[in-house]
Amino acid sequence: MEVPVSGRSDQLLSQIATGDGHGENSSYFDGWKAYDRNPFHPTTNPDGVIQLGLAENQLCPDLMEVWIRENPKASVCTADGVSAFGAIANFQDYHGLPAFRHAIAAFMKKVRGGRVNFDPDRIVMSGGATGAQELISFCLADPGDAFLIPTPYYPGFDRDFCWRTRVQLLPIHCKSSNNFKITRAALESAFKEAQEANIRVRGVLVTNPSNPLGTSMDRDTLKTLVSFINEKNIHLVCDEIFAGTVFDKPRFVGISEIIEEDPTCNRDLIHLVSSLSKDLGLPGFRVGIVYSYNDHVVSCGRKMSSFGLVSSQTQHLLASMLSDEEFTTRLLEESGKRLSARHRKFNSRLAQMEIRCLESNAGLFCWMDLRHLLKEPTIDREIELWRVIVNDVKLNVSPGSSFHCQEAGWFRVCFANMDDETMEVALRRIKSFVYREVAAKSEAKKKRWQAGLRLSLPRRFEEMVMSPMLMSPRSPLVHASG
Ligand SMILES: Cc1ncc(COP(=O)(O)O)c(C=O)c1O
Repeated sequence: MEVPVSGRSDQLLSQIATGDGHGENSSYFDGWKAYDRNPFHPTTNPDGVIQLGLAENQLCPDLMEVWIRENPKASVCTADGVSAFGAIANFQDYHGLPAFRHAIAAFMKKVRGGRVNFDPDRIVMSGGATGAQELISFCLADPGDAFLIPTPYYPGFDRDFCWRTRVQLLPIHCKSSNNFKITRAALESAFKEAQEANIRVRGVLVTNPSNPLGTSMDRDTLKTLVSFINEKNIHLVCDEIFAGTVFDKPRFVGISEIIEEDPTCNRDLIHLVSSLSKDLGLPGFRVGIVYSYNDHVVSCGRKMSSFGLVSSQTQHLLASMLSDEEFTTRLLEESGKRLSARHRKFNSRLAQMEIRCLESNAGLFCWMDLRHLLKEPTIDREIELWRVIVNDVKLNVSPGSSFHCQEAGWFRVCFANMDDETMEVALRRIKSFVYREVAAKSEAKKKRWQAGLRLSLPRRFEEMVMSPMLMSPRSPLVHASG
């Protein structure tokens, strides 16, 4: 919808309404808009934009569908389940249905290999992890306060964690030289910078497994984080929304496992965010979870969750689905297998085109290295290349700079939101684009080399080697030594 410019109607609105804190003006969302304007369809729009910018898990809807068909009683909108309709439609308690909280706690344990227990009374609901991030931000920080966050990070955090809460995120710069791992030195440096700018740091926000990297954190990194936040007496928020997408070794280690092994950790500082959007591929159900080890946060968060409850109909259905142990085990196993197969296929095809991705074991995307295609290693050149990919090649990939990555030339490519045929079309487009770019780059290099040679050679010598009588005008050294 067009916003009217005349009449200054925006002057009547709040700063939040008129500001751009939503973060929609970024290449991340621009790519989505390009897709929305011209979406690919194999028969009706084969030249449209292919959506490689959406981290959705669409590889197992068949399993879900079978379960729904076989369990009609789980839904209040079927002949078998309608007897529960009245009670469920009336339910609005912000504590949530007890059966739902128990099922979620059990599912979180299962995703973590049964190694940690979760207390259903600490489960706080929200509208997706999006709502969970805002809820935890409201609980832990005041306007102007900051959380430190390793880069690259999910662009939605600028909206979810900061927009309405007015909390800020300050980068902990991570580098490709150590596969973007968080180090103690980088944590200290970000903290010091905030202190020097007189900004109060309230905590650290991490995503494990990482979006956009697709890597899960090792124990040492998690321990480093826990000791850092304990020393500084600040919070640690771990977004573990991708915990159930780990498809390869090393296995997932969550923050709960680490603090259970560490009796010295102040648990009041530890908070977990989760959702069913990625693990189960149910982003439309808007099921988000805050799991805090801090009683005050649980109590306040629960009251705040009134603003973003999960509908009781959804709670009812999921309580039933997630309590089916045999089904959830099979679903997680099958999802892991399909993700692994897709990841292997996608990465190996890119490798054939000499495109490297960061080694990863989780998530719904890969972190593709196109640094060799940049004319210069700058963010401007990255965006220039990205525009070609979106507008000419018609692939919506997301540039690293939209994830606040400091190093130019990285792109996130989602591989689990499409069928095999669409992936083939996307790979073919990537191939012809890369070959064209490589050829153009080497042609430009050759021209630069020839121009440089002309400038550096003595005039007479140049005339001699460039003479049409010589077999190879590009071999001055052969001629000279002969
Ligand atoms: C790291 C991370 N956190 C939170 C979200 C938001 O998830 P939800 O759909 O549950 O709101 C996303 C979505 O991509 C994400 O990648």
